[in-house]
Amino acid sequence: TRVLVLNGPNLARLGSREPEVYGSTSYETLAERCRAIGTELGFDVDVRQTDDEAELVGWLHEATDASLPVVLNPAAFTHYSYALRDACAQLTAPLVEVHISNPAAREEFRHTSVVAGVATGTIAGFGLASYELALRALSAR
Ligand code: DQA
Repeated sequence: TRVLVLNGPNLARLGSREPEVYGSTSYETLAERCRAIGTELGFDVDVRQTDDEAELVGWLHEATDASLPVVLNPAAFTHYSYALRDACAQLTAPLVEVHISNPAAREEFRHTSVVAGVATGTIAGFGLASYELALRALSAR
């Protein structure tokens, strides 16, 4: 099974971006880990990142058309992108929303996720392990 692991804005800067919040592991290392865990679970994992809302929406359409499961870290789009939510709502395979930090324990504006209501479930607050847990959650279904 192919799985898309999609990452929104600023996540390519993992490793140097606010390491006290997001850790010091690079995006490339995260991508490699996701692919390795995927291999262990029998998934062909395609990891992507974009800062562009339109590109992310396009990838979700691609997942919809191919009935692919998605692990999505929508980053800041989580909190305000209705376009992203509407794209997620069209998915037919499971969608796991992931966050490295726990947005509920941070600023007020991060307490709302417009994506959560159309996700199968959400995993947040476990650092980069949130992605591993998300892939395992897909595998458990
Ligand atoms: C994030 C949390 C968001 O609030 C933030 O905008 C991000 C990353 C996380 O993974 O913890 O960019 O999605």
